[in-house]
Amino acid sequence: MIGTQTRRALLAGVVAATAARPVLAQDRRMTTYKTPWCGCCDGWVAHMRTAGWTVEVIEREDLAPIRARYGVPDRYAGCHTALVGAYAIEGHVPAADVERLLRERPTAVALAAPGMPAGSPGMEAAGRQPYVTLLINYAGEATIFGRHNGA
Ligand code: CU
Ligand code: CU
Repeated sequence: MIGTQTRRALLAGVVAATAARPVLAQDRRMTTYKTPWCGCCDGWVAHMRTAGWTVEVIEREDLAPIRARYGVPDRYAGCHTALVGAYAIEGHVPAADVERLLRERPTAVALAAPGMPAGSPGMEAAGRQPYVTLLINYAGEATIFGRHNGA
């Protein structure tokens, strides 16, 4: 027979284990597909490495098949596609958003910063514009995940 006190302690343990899963060093690894001629992707890769990520870079002249394979609809396309665990990271998504994604682990296929938002990581030289990151589900629908530069 488990006493109320013990049951509470057990429940608290379960909640802590699911809600506060830390992002471990081995989680901070990604493979990034980019085109050979795009420089802002290198800026984004540098941003991720500075944030503590190990990034493997693979160059492809056509990224559309990569997006198709990993569930990123073309309307959310950026200039590079990264794979982090079971998620695709599309475009210039800030490292802090990727970290939050790994902490919260929502049911989704991808996190995207569509286009090339000025002032996103790797796009600093283009100026600064408000932009959002989008969480994309298995049906290709998007919801706002993060807001940046005053969006
Ligand atoms: Cu870019
Ligand atoms: Cu690029």
